[in-house]
Amino acid sequence: MDYQVILPAAGQGKRMGAGKNKLLLVIGEIPVFIHTLRVFENDSECTGIYLAINPQDEEEMRVLLKEHNITKVIEMVPGGEERQHSVYNAVKAVAGEGIVLVHDAARPFISQDLLRPLVKMAEEKGAAVLAVPLKDTVKKADGNLITETLERSCLWAVQTPQAFRIPVLLEAHQKAEVERFLGTDDASLVERLGKEVVIVEGSYDNIKLTTPEDLYFAEAIIKKTKN
Ligand code: CTP
Ligand code: MG
Repeated sequence: MDYQVILPAAGQGKRMGAGKNKLLLVIGEIPVFIHTLRVFENDSECTGIYLAINPQDEEEMRVLLKEHNITKVIEMVPGGEERQHSVYNAVKAVAGEGIVLVHDAARPFISQDLLRPLVKMAEEKGAAVLAVPLKDTVKKADGNLITETLERSCLWAVQTPQAFRIPVLLEAHQKAEVERFLGTDDASLVERLGKEVVIVEGSYDNIKLTTPEDLYFAEAIIKKTKN
């Protein structure tokens, strides 16, 4: 099943504290975002990539795309103030009525095996996300006073990619813009349309590189997959 993919890559990587976009950091000898792009470049069912970028990273990223023979980037769109705005800029550029994935460029360990069931589920149901069962116990608190312990068996840590029929994602972003709603993922915008979003079980390896410790985990995952 063919699909296109939006990769938001226009963040600043503030929590990583590297003094530049964390996606340009090198892990396993190549930059983070090139790892991510390679997965889609090498997947025959991916027909096009839309990259949301920071104008200040554009030149460096273009050079790296060429150097690593990434050919499927259809368009590079400017990022926005928040991740949601970056994704929306790309959604407006995506053509057609098929399936589009939204995947954080900061999750370089997405494997092709997970893409197949996700795309299939989105095709059937309209919207699907990868998620893993939570390992920690989660509590709600008012300041430092616990008010509730949530039932872990029904809690999921949601990842990307998230997959949608293109018109569904477009409508969700349009509504969010009109209503000035800011969500932390794309599925939450679709949920606000009153549409169903289905979970497909992801992988604990599919981490998002956020803080410096994540670079150690990344090196370990690379080492494991090479062996
Ligand atoms: N992103 C984006 N546009 C933004 C903010 C984030 O395209 N305005 C992208 C990031 O580049 C990343 C993904 O969205 O690939 C997930 O965001 P996050 O992990 O929060 O990355 P950053 O925003 O770069 O990090 P931080 O929040 O620590 O600054
Ligand atoms: Mg951020």
